[in-house]
Amino acid sequence: MFFKEKLIRLCVRSRFHTRRFISSDKSKDAEFSTRNATFVLPFESIPMARSLPLIGTKLDLIMSGFGKRLHEVIDNRHQTLGPIFREPVEGSAAHLIFLNSSEMMREMFIYEGKYPKHPLPDAWTLYNDVHSCKRGLFFMDDEEWLINRKIMNGILLRNDFQLAQSVIENVSDNLIHEWNCNFCEEENFAVVTGLMSSLYTWSIKVLVYLMIGETHGEKNHEINKLLPEFSLVVQKVFEHTAPLMIIPPTFARKYKLNIWHQFENSVTRTLEIANDIVDVGLKMNGNGLLKEMQAHNMSTEVIKRIFADLIIAAGDTTAYTTQWALFLLSTNVSEQSKIREQLDKSNFETPLIRGTVRESLRLFPVATFIGRILPVEGIIGNYRIPEHTPVIASMYSIGRDAENFPNPDKFNPSRWLRDTSGNLHGVYRPNMPYAIGVRSCVGQKLANSMMHTILSKILRNFELNLMNSNPVGVVMRLIAVPSAPIMLGIKRLSV
Ligand code: HEM
Repeated sequence: MFFKEKLIRLCVRSRFHTRRFISSDKSKDAEFSTRNATFVLPFESIPMARSLPLIGTKLDLIMSGFGKRLHEVIDNRHQTLGPIFREPVEGSAAHLIFLNSSEMMREMFIYEGKYPKHPLPDAWTLYNDVHSCKRGLFFMDDEEWLINRKIMNGILLRNDFQLAQSVIENVSDNLIHEWNCNFCEEENFAVVTGLMSSLYTWSIKVLVYLMIGETHGEKNHEINKLLPEFSLVVQKVFEHTAPLMIIPPTFARKYKLNIWHQFENSVTRTLEIANDIVDVGLKMNGNGLLKEMQAHNMSTEVIKRIFADLIIAAGDTTAYTTQWALFLLSTNVSEQSKIREQLDKSNFETPLIRGTVRESLRLFPVATFIGRILPVEGIIGNYRIPEHTPVIASMYSIGRDAENFPNPDKFNPSRWLRDTSGNLHGVYRPNMPYAIGVRSCVGQKLANSMMHTILSKILRNFELNLMNSNPVGVVMRLIAVPSAPIMLGIKRLSV
């Protein structure tokens, strides 16, 4: 039996590594499928993470530093178990399936159905239940999700998004101005103070001004007064969610643990401020997205729900990816020079700026795990997966796998340049940092424009140097964040 399992595993691995499946194994468990003309293997033959008696796999999580090193734990599991493995869910017969293959990730999306469902952090669903709180796109399901998603696709994913570009330009120019204030009079070198909060405020400001309309943004005191607290509490939502990935939220709530109160307070305050901003924005009757949402007959209640969750989804992801890009650039002065050469010839973003963002999302994917709950039985990596199984793509592992990217640990924006036939230089199989399919990121165009614009402006104005004396690693705080604050040194360039 042991030998047979080993053979099946070998077959699957060799299919993954050589892209060929050895179909000579006519084992009783394997069933012939016309799809790909290969054998379909039963669910039970998916390699399983060895759980420890009594405490299941939770101990591994605790050993990983309360989830801070979850991406590494899962990556190590892939190293030993292969591109697909199952992880028993503590206290139940269910399993999570983890993948680190781009091909299998694509297969996962094939089965997602008309109303894709993603796994949600328990703390967030518990909050919504306890407070009878209805939320935005990320939490909506079925027809309600589809109707609102179609409207938001039309608003956020269109090609001619002039308003967005001018808001992004203005808010990014402000950030450059603030950074210029870091310099003492005669000095040409400074360290950016509060890098993270400055990027956070930048990303939230873009969204808020875009909602209310460009012309009203800066001028409105009522909204500007709310922004510093808003950006702080949105950050806290993420910070307080992370421990609740390990300590069950129902337990934390029942025993009145401080961590539950902190989480609850930060979500409540985020939703309150978001509501206030929408109220003020609607009163102003500006030319922003709020007006467009109203024009689609969205009720004020739904607009508030969608707006709050857009802010939560946009704030952390965009600010941290930009921060990772600055981190990578600040340790690669030669890449900065190459990009500046391109920028000198262009008024706008360049292919190497786009490559920098793609590299940041590859090496430090803020959405570290992307999942779907399969609505039907499916076949992924030649294994039969029962309906309702949560399948999760390990984006950190996919991005650092030599099967997908040659020399994967190297920061190389040029790998994303295309040759004359349109082929990518240094990519075997691209990753999908925004997911794909109908439930992929609705803010991806906006996020890319924001990051391309700010990085171009920063590189035009400053030379970057990393000032941290100790190495900076990745830790999980629901999304992938630096293990220590990044000390970004900036040297003024004459522009
Ligand atoms: C670097 C930046 C970003 C990354 C890497 C990112 C990544 C993602 C991913 C992977 C998903 C899909 C989750 C799933 O399918 O389960 C998603 C969904 C979503 N994102 Fe983003 N995102 C980014 C920025 C933004 C921005 C700027 C906004 C707002 C304008 C936004 C709004 C949303 C919303 C509302 C959803 C839920 C969509 C739905 O369920 O239909 N994201 N994002």
